[in-house]
Amino acid sequence: MYTQEIQEKWQALRHKPDALVMGVESSCDETAAAVVRGGREILSNVIASQIDIHKRFGGVVPEVASRNHTLALPNVIDEALRVADVQASELDAVAVTFGAGLIGALLVGVSSAKAFAYAIKKPLVAVNHIEAHVAANYLADPALQPPFTALVASGGHTLLLDIPDYNAYVGLGGTLDDALGEAFDKVARVLGLPYPGGPNVERLARQGKANIAFYKHPKGVRNDLSVSYSGLKTAVVNHVHTLRQKGEKVPVADVCASFTAAAVDLLVKTAVEAVRRQCRQKLVLAGGVAANGYLRDRLAAAGKANGFTVQFPPPVLCTDNAAMVASRAYFMARAGLGLSDLSLNARSHIPFGGDL
Ligand code: KG4
Ligand code: ZN
Repeated sequence: MYTQEIQEKWQALRHKPDALVMGVESSCDETAAAVVRGGREILSNVIASQIDIHKRFGGVVPEVASRNHTLALPNVIDEALRVADVQASELDAVAVTFGAGLIGALLVGVSSAKAFAYAIKKPLVAVNHIEAHVAANYLADPALQPPFTALVASGGHTLLLDIPDYNAYVGLGGTLDDALGEAFDKVARVLGLPYPGGPNVERLARQGKANIAFYKHPKGVRNDLSVSYSGLKTAVVNHVHTLRQKGEKVPVADVCASFTAAAVDLLVKTAVEAVRRQCRQKLVLAGGVAANGYLRDRLAAAGKANGFTVQFPPPVLCTDNAAMVASRAYFMARAGLGLSDLSLNARSHIPFGGDL
């Protein structure tokens, strides 16, 4: 239950356009804390990446991620306050990603944020990770306002959403199986490229030709705006294994270019159809895969051809960070949504459109 004091601070926040919110993020392998003013202005955005720790395992090891969040988070929170030049007592709220993600990793952030908010007697806001990814665009473009369509492509999700208002997220379609980032990571792994695979596949794809047809995957946009990556991923893996079994050289750059083209082309067409159906004028990109230059270029060209604008955050705001969590919480708080208390728990899965 909330105390009278927290209730009063929460009410005051609704009428405070320049509210200072601290965000905390620990859903996967980045330990992050940030301070954001007015939902749009980043005062600090501290990210302690565990990539080097997980690299030697070829992917994120959940238990190792949780332990390293525990080690890093106190310093990351201190550093976020120091860089922002803000005292804890000046914050108006503490926001934390409570899902979706790795349950142990999320628990570290949720427990720390609960303890911190309790200690400094400030409201605690529970944030959905996917919604936070979309909010990264409010930081990148201070003039951005809904309505728009959003494409979220990360290691865990590939979703098309309609955003009619700051606090309305309507699922339109997305992957039926693997997330696009997951497919990038698996393709990288079979090619022996280091984790995280996406940036390495992108780097090599630039040097290759998209001249391999792995698999006759459907080229037309599906009526339910769904896409699928597990068939394509398996076809790439089989193609590489077959070449190795025959003792032939694997054309790594061409495999990367061909996979990227196949994976992105249908997603771009599906996104165009989503924008058209909702009669929106703008498409925003979010999530780690939104850092991919080929996806950005293809979407920008598709927007130009179809009369809508496309925007994407800089790469540091595409991948996991806490500034996006603080921004998302600000817009929730201004509408009186998302106030949480010490009963808040982490959730590994959150069905889209689901309540807290
Ligand atoms: O959003 P994010 O940092 O974490 C999740 O919420 O999953 O996304 C990480 C994913 C990884 O699968 C990574 O390989 C992918 O985003 N990624 C990329 C690129 N940069 C990161 N995929 C393709 N091209 C990139 N440049
Ligand atoms: Zn993410």
